[in-house]
Amino acid sequence: MKNIIVLVSGGGTNLQALIDAEKSGIIKNGKITCVISSNPGAYALERAKNNGIETAVIRRKDYDKFSAYDKALTELIKSKNADLVVLAGFMTILGHEVISAFENRIINIHPALIPSFCGEGFYGLRVHEAALEKGVKLSGATAHFVNEICDGGPIIIQKAVEVRDGDTPEILQKRIMEQAEWKILPEAVSLFCQDKIKVINNKAVISE
Ligand code: GRF
Repeated sequence: MKNIIVLVSGGGTNLQALIDAEKSGIIKNGKITCVISSNPGAYALERAKNNGIETAVIRRKDYDKFSAYDKALTELIKSKNADLVVLAGFMTILGHEVISAFENRIINIHPALIPSFCGEGFYGLRVHEAALEKGVKLSGATAHFVNEICDGGPIIIQKAVEVRDGDTPEILQKRIMEQAEWKILPEAVSLFCQDKIKVINNKAVISE
């Protein structure tokens, strides 16, 4: 059974999807053992506590240097014996130390079809604003491994979602969460926990 550590900063609907997927057996061979938040007020922490999951908080602003924060986060995750780290709306950039310590063991969910609307500055509603501005007819979500290139790691699963006339960024965000993020993130986690993902030439290859 793999230990899954989930990193959050906000409402935690993706965390909830993971908790529900673990309970219903969609996530095979994995257990969420700790939720770490960058924000002590995150509702995601309540979701963890309501489900008997250990929590921890680490704030970037409590460290002068980024390198000290990076080291502390790495140590914290290691102390929880993480096999897999999931970024579920974690709003702090990860540093070299944590990324290299968990190479191809950190999964992020991005609310667009990478390589569209991704990279620095594309987070939260900004992603959906950019998609609507461009007038794309399809957007969606991507579950991918994290490397040192922002939103540039190997893609594990993508799911397209239609963009409709009259969509606002908020409406599109909600549709993408419901139809894509909350499904493919648990699926990607389950594949990882069953050792079904291999990374070859920077591409994720799924075996069934
Ligand atoms: C989601 O849109 C996710 O794609 C992005 O951050 C948001 C987190 O929402 N990375 P929640 O905290 O899971 O509700």
